Amino acid sequence: TNAAAAEGLPLAVYGTIIHSVTPQDVEILENGLLVVGKDGKITSLDKDVQPSQIDEFLSRYGLDRSSPSVKVLERGQFLIPGFIDTHNHAPQWTQRGTGRGKEIMEWLNKTTFPHEARFEDPEYARKTYAACVDGFLKQGVTTASYYGSLHGEATKILADICLEKGQRAFVGKCNMNRNAPDYYRDASAEESIRVTEEFIAYAREIDPEASLVTPILTPRFAVACDADVLSGLGKIAAKNPDLPIQTHFNETVQEMEITKSLFPEFEYEADLYEHFGLLNRRSILAHCIYMNEYEMGRLKTLDCGVAHCPVSNTTSGNFGTAPVREYLRRGIKVGLGTDSGGGYSSSIIDAMRQAFVVSKAKAWATEGREPALTHNEMFYLATLGGAKVCCLEDKVGTFAVGKEFDALEIRTIGKDAGVITMVEDIDTTVDMFEKFIMTGDDRNIARVYVKGRCVKS
Ligand code: GUN
Ligand code: FE
Repeated sequence: TNAAAAEGLPLAVYGTIIHSVTPQDVEILENGLLVVGKDGKITSLDKDVQPSQIDEFLSRYGLDRSSPSVKVLERGQFLIPGFIDTHNHAPQWTQRGTGRGKEIMEWLNKTTFPHEARFEDPEYARKTYAACVDGFLKQGVTTASYYGSLHGEATKILADICLEKGQRAFVGKCNMNRNAPDYYRDASAEESIRVTEEFIAYAREIDPEASLVTPILTPRFAVACDADVLSGLGKIAAKNPDLPIQTHFNETVQEMEITKSLFPEFEYEADLYEHFGLLNRRSILAHCIYMNEYEMGRLKTLDCGVAHCPVSNTTSGNFGTAPVREYLRRGIKVGLGTDSGGGYSSSIIDAMRQAFVVSKAKAWATEGREPALTHNEMFYLATLGGAKVCCLEDKVGTFAVGKEFDALEIRTIGKDAGVITMVEDIDTTVDMFEKFIMTGDDRNIARVYVKGRCVKS
């Protein structure tokens, strides 16, 4: 589809390459040589290739150093897997930063719904979604799990734009047929399901192999969906076991109380969503802040993933600290979400840092029983952890041979390298890596690749 991208492949990158191998451990290849084939997949990753051997290795792969598709990284530069944003509201792109301090229902009614309602206009949707996808790509988000608005047309436009711009994405028409204003609510359960099915068919038509874009079932939350909508979506999920599913889960006390009053037959949200067939290994549950032993057990047994959204959890109306250390300890899948616009920031780097701050608060509150996250763990959540949450770990999240090349070229030295202070002859690669996580921003992301295609340079 893209001539320039096709010309760029196969490509090779030589230099410092960093990726996660476990939640606790990163592998740092100081002299790595990574080669990407025409199909955007990683064909080889050689370790300890000395500078004097670069030409010999490249020639083995039919490449040579003068080719524009061969990149030799310099000191201060390194390659990492692309960031995965497991929870993101595309139609909230324009509201980031506003509406702080409101409780969830007031925030939805006063801040969010007026913004999302504008996406009834396809022209507005096209313009705003283009800015949104560009904005996330620029910040290194190579995979995003997007909630759309409730509109079928606008959600198709979002899927088109992700495909055009080359972002890997889950895209969902948001289901919501109650507890929302007349001007922004699905007309009925039937309508909600009909528009969803039509959107799924469209997404499969534009990207039949889900090479980049995958439709996702997106009940906003049980407060906004009646039993007919939830069971309709559950039926779609049963017929289409490959479809991912996303919703908000145990996010605020107010939301949990309203849910309980609407569905008194269910003690817990885990029971409610499971009853409707919406919890399985492809479910991405945003927030998961208030979780007891029972619900953690259900998530683990059903193999659901958690989208940890620390920026929104601590800076919107409520203040919540999700038990991420517990999730890691129990082997519950967990990744990061910007929750942009519930989160004011659209940066996964910010989400990593806030996950750290939240984990410090948890460590303090538990007198050290739940230790704070390390740099390696923050990085894991942003990459491989997110890939697992999205069931994409066979495709992305690390630089294993056979995976697709979703990567960020990071620079930490030079006039375009933002505010990181690298002490040139003294700092180690680990210093550079930690400084990037704690003080980096999009200026440090020099290039972004998705499936081998350069989408930011
Ligand atoms: N719960 C229901 N809808 C939303 C939303 O848009 N953002 C957040 N953070 N929580 C929600
Ligand atoms: Fe959200």
